[in-house]
Amino acid sequence: MDLISSLGISKDQFNWIFDLAKEKKEEKVHHKPLLDKTVGMAFFEPSTRTYTSFDAAAKKSGASVVGFKGADMTSTVKGESFSDTIRMLNCYSDCIVLRHKYDGSAKFASEISEVPVINAGDGKNEHPTQSLIDLFTIKERFGGIDGLSYCMMGDLKYSRTTNSLLYLLNRFNPSDVYVYSPESLGVRNEVLSKLNYKCTVLSDEDFNSTLESVDVLYVTRLQKERFTDENEYHKFKGSYRVDDETITSLGKDSIVLHALPRVDEINRKIDSSDKSMYFQQARNGVPVRMALLEMIFDGKQ
Ligand code: CP
Repeated sequence: MDLISSLGISKDQFNWIFDLAKEKKEEKVHHKPLLDKTVGMAFFEPSTRTYTSFDAAAKKSGASVVGFKGADMTSTVKGESFSDTIRMLNCYSDCIVLRHKYDGSAKFASEISEVPVINAGDGKNEHPTQSLIDLFTIKERFGGIDGLSYCMMGDLKYSRTTNSLLYLLNRFNPSDVYVYSPESLGVRNEVLSKLNYKCTVLSDEDFNSTLESVDVLYVTRLQKERFTDENEYHKFKGSYRVDDETITSLGKDSIVLHALPRVDEINRKIDSSDKSMYFQQARNGVPVRMALLEMIFDGKQ
């Protein structure tokens, strides 16, 4: 099975991943179920967390890892096509973890590939494995996902992580989902149209008065690399920030998440707050991706 979109993840699959990832995190399971597998990494775009945590997850599960990080040292520079590169990884690996700047590249790869393809971020489209980590972190902290109030904040036009998280929330019953972004960087209509719950757009004023009731504040950076007009990026740079005041305005049990990397949208002074969970979120990348790889190879539907 492939993992291309969070829209394709069922509640049962999420729960299965959650339970196994929790066992992995608590180190209750030590066997290496993927000893006979090779994970192929095809990272055409930069990554710190996704690449490294997939690499660690595969190796901790007993798998070998092959592939590349950065296309500049592959034969694509000699003119080899994307499809031929995917075909080659089929020769050397049992699944492909793909990151690429183009929307839809993971779906395209899955149509060529005979081994499963995992979307590790395709352009401004989706990042489904990140949404599994996000909901794992939320469920771990609150004991569940239903009945909570969520607010996605930042550049929601180009952020693939928030798209995938919004899609995965389709499987649950959030009490409220809010979105708050600079003017013209709101969630795209094509994403909103796929949600089965009400998603409320907040104004600056609404945002300040709503914060107290928000359980999960999910922050995302300006996706500089996706702006077609650099002037537009500079127009929005520094236009929103999570700081001490935001932390104080949130409810006492609320949390702040961010897929990272952050730039300047989170003041480092709040890193020490109990509400700031973005580093724990990043750490959860390994157990969640260990569980996911097992699911992919088991073909659990
Ligand atoms: N969260 C995330 O996707 O980070 P990287 O871009 O560093 O992989």
